[in-house]
Amino acid sequence: MEKKTFYITTPIYYPSGKPHIGHSYTTVASDAIARYKRMQGCDVMFLTGTDEHGQKIEQKAAAVGITPKEYVDGTTKVFKDLWKLLDVSNDRFIRTTDEFHVKGIQKIFRELFDKGEIYKGKYEGWYCTDCESFWTETQLKDGKCPDCGREVKWAEEEAYFFKLSKYADRLLQLYKDQPNFIQPESRKNEMIGFINQGLQDLCVSRTSVKWGIPVDFDPKHTVYVWMDALPNYITALGYGSDDDSDFKKYWPADVHFVGKEIVRFHTVIWPAMLMALDLPLPKQVYGHGWLLFGDGTKMSKSKGNVVDPYILCDRYGVDAIRYFLLREIPFGSDGLFTNEALINRINSDLANDLGNLLSRTTAMVQKYFGGTIPQEQESADPDGELEAMGSELRAKCDKAIDGYQFSKALEEIWRFISRTNKYIDETAPWALGKDETKKARLAAVMDHLCEALRIVSILLTPFMPNTTLKIQEQLGLSVANCTYESAKHFGRFPANCTVTKGETLFPRIDVEKEIEELNKLIPSPNAGKAEESKVKKELAGVAQIGIEDFAKVELRAAKIMNCEKIKRAKKLLQLTLDDGTGEPRTVCSGIAQWYTPEDLIGKTVVVVANLKPAKLCGVESQGMILAADAGENDVKVVFLNDVPAGSKIR
Ligand code: MSP
Repeated sequence: MEKKTFYITTPIYYPSGKPHIGHSYTTVASDAIARYKRMQGCDVMFLTGTDEHGQKIEQKAAAVGITPKEYVDGTTKVFKDLWKLLDVSNDRFIRTTDEFHVKGIQKIFRELFDKGEIYKGKYEGWYCTDCESFWTETQLKDGKCPDCGREVKWAEEEAYFFKLSKYADRLLQLYKDQPNFIQPESRKNEMIGFINQGLQDLCVSRTSVKWGIPVDFDPKHTVYVWMDALPNYITALGYGSDDDSDFKKYWPADVHFVGKEIVRFHTVIWPAMLMALDLPLPKQVYGHGWLLFGDGTKMSKSKGNVVDPYILCDRYGVDAIRYFLLREIPFGSDGLFTNEALINRINSDLANDLGNLLSRTTAMVQKYFGGTIPQEQESADPDGELEAMGSELRAKCDKAIDGYQFSKALEEIWRFISRTNKYIDETAPWALGKDETKKARLAAVMDHLCEALRIVSILLTPFMPNTTLKIQEQLGLSVANCTYESAKHFGRFPANCTVTKGETLFPRIDVEKEIEELNKLIPSPNAGKAEESKVKKELAGVAQIGIEDFAKVELRAAKIMNCEKIKRAKKLLQLTLDDGTGEPRTVCSGIAQWYTPEDLIGKTVVVVANLKPAKLCGVESQGMILAADAGENDVKVVFLNDVPAGSKIR
């Protein structure tokens, strides 16, 4: 029999900066569904990607002096690397700069034009010449450009438009005929309200934006934003190419996961485009909520107040972060991201409930039976209750997952974990272990504990794929023992499995100490500063800064006029510099191990002139000089030749 297909997508993200935990949220949620559906035996297509065109990218690239393509090549790699780190199992990754996408969009644009669905008109608005941007009246700030604050003028530009307005009735009908098309329900009412206000035709080309897909029959136009982005869901399947077999196989999508701010584009513009193309519509668009900071502000790249997933994964492991994202916030709602909530979840759910259940169980099976549970077993209360609950668990998870209620599915699994922990207290295996005549009962208790963990490990795999592998390893289970099918009933734990006590799954965290450290690393709202993590440093491109960041550092040539040792500090030398300002500048430098004052006096060095002054062993240091780590335990000061003191270095 042919497998049932399941097609799930994330939005394609703007690679205009580093991905943050908000992007990770949608992607990890999609991944959990893709994994769950695969586990259920579906033929899954899971797509994610990057939306690489547009003015913003053009400007960012120009600011660092590279081409837009070079820019997106770098930032897209960072997205891909993060998905790898987070164990995201996407089947495909589309970039809107991919040749097949470019061709597909050109074909779609032409087809819509030929059908009269796209027409040429005029785009009007307030235009900022410096930013080359159009703004609407409401976007202006005090009547000026909201980006640069300069004067704007009323301008017109030739543009193509998509006849969105004519689809209002068909869209409203769609929401009626397909009641699950927009989820959660509340977002549907917003969309109905939006359509009832009256739909405008949509501008789908620009002549002022160069970084985009050229309209092939009118190349001074580039295809504009959503007309380029939305069809990625079908071009990725080969629509418009010579081989559209995947399109035939997987389209229409079962669900598009998107953040709530782009539900409108996916439930109004996208279905209208598909209607215009006479193509089937996606079965559902699910608009999830936002991750907010503790004070209710949205995390966003432009505000700089983002939580860095690398730091979190580095400190707590990927699975803890995946778990937190999916457990803490009901999927359709907004939710707070706080460091406290994260640590509490790790300690209580992962270290205490799950971690302890595994370590207690494996330790007892080892202690009482050397790792293999005897098959002679005697049942008693409360076995039946645990068995019944275990047998219901899969169906409960399936139901929650069908409605994309991750937190509900995890809640059910944890209810069962708690019940199993309680079962240990009720059956008191430590007492049974002391009584030779209770061996068969003790074996039954161990069997139940291992079976409960086996079922948990199967159903938890889509959420925490690394942890569940570790559990299965410690329980001595083979792949064949861990099928979805075998999680349907609570039965006997497979005979002949050798249970071993392995590493602790989640070490308990000292809350106070950790929160203090974490608060330094993960910004509170608007702080936007985060320290480097090990993983982060390894990822190429992550540590990149913009030229505007580099420009903040003021480097100047300075001549060393005097140099002395500091009595109280063996490692430091006190330098007096002429930095061209006419006033001597004092700088302390930790180079006494490699240089004597005589080596330095009269030489010209590079000083960081705008470093905050700091007191070092009683001396105020007003900057620092540059030196290279020139090998193991060797430092070489950077000297300048023929550069006058005071010269700016950039
Ligand atoms: N490129 C468009 C989407 C085109 S889809 C055809 C875009 N890109 S984006 O980079 O801004 O990504 C937005 C998406 O990232 C949101 O819809 C959501 O999926 C995710 N999130 C970004 N910040 C988020 C939060 N703070 N919270 C939850 N999700 C967030 O829009």
